[in-house]
Amino acid sequence: MDYLNINKDAWDKRTKVHVDSKFYDVEAFKNGKSSLNTIELEQVGNVTGKKLLHLQCHFGQDTLSWARQGATVTGVDLSTEAIEQANELKSVLALDATFVANDIYKFGAENTEKFDVVFTSYGVLCWLPDLKQWAETISNSLITGGEFHLVEFHTFNDLLCGYSYFPDSEPDIEDEGTYTENCDGEKSKMVTWAHSLSEVINALISSGLSIEQFKEYPYSPYNCFEGLEFIAGKGYQMIHKKQQVPLLYSIKARKNS
Ligand SMILES: C[S@@+](CC[C@H](N)C(=O)[O-])C[C@H]1O[C@@H](n2cnc3c(N)ncnc32)[C@H](O)[C@@H]1O
Repeated sequence: MDYLNINKDAWDKRTKVHVDSKFYDVEAFKNGKSSLNTIELEQVGNVTGKKLLHLQCHFGQDTLSWARQGATVTGVDLSTEAIEQANELKSVLALDATFVANDIYKFGAENTEKFDVVFTSYGVLCWLPDLKQWAETISNSLITGGEFHLVEFHTFNDLLCGYSYFPDSEPDIEDEGTYTENCDGEKSKMVTWAHSLSEVINALISSGLSIEQFKEYPYSPYNCFEGLEFIAGKGYQMIHKKQQVPLLYSIKARKNS
């Protein structure tokens, strides 16, 4: 199964929908609004003068937001449509950034550049079959002392939606629409893998990174799952049997040698 081409086609189609969505609000972004949320801004901190690699950057709003914060940025994404849109945004806004259209594993095998920070967020891990290779890519891209930052949707919600929590040898292959409000109902085949929290953490540790912070959150900034309710000043929450569901987690890790 050619999962890369299947997922690339789906993300190319999704990108065309996303750039016109209120969800991504490109107009506000062009007018100076950052697409970054408090969680990642507080976790990553001051990036002025730092070289930052953004893995699975989609069409580049977060990457360019880090550039606006003073970082020298490189964004990598599988979708050529997303990278075209990212380059278009970069030109319109006259920002400095390098965007690379590639599978992150191929990027990892070819890349020789080192970065102070590697960042990736919100809906990235399920597209990757092998987290050991993912963590090696991160570790090999960092300078000694460099930081890795992940903010990801919590797998607990996947479990409640009927997906496996524990890693499975076989991926899920499903026809899915997208998550933005302007989704026209068109579905594309997508291939995804389940990754438990221990799998993520152990992959990072095995690649030589030290975990410095692990957090879980009951609120998400994004209204992209069924059954969410908005709580002013907090974000979206999900209640299951009267209790809050963990919707996000974040990891900060450092390459020590
Ligand atoms: C949910 S989006 C990331 C979200 C991002 N934070 C955003 O909303 O701007 C997932 C991204 O992963 C990319 N992707 C999927 N598989 C990939 C792979 N093997 N290598 C690189 N990028 C991949 C997709 O093209 C998509 O842009």
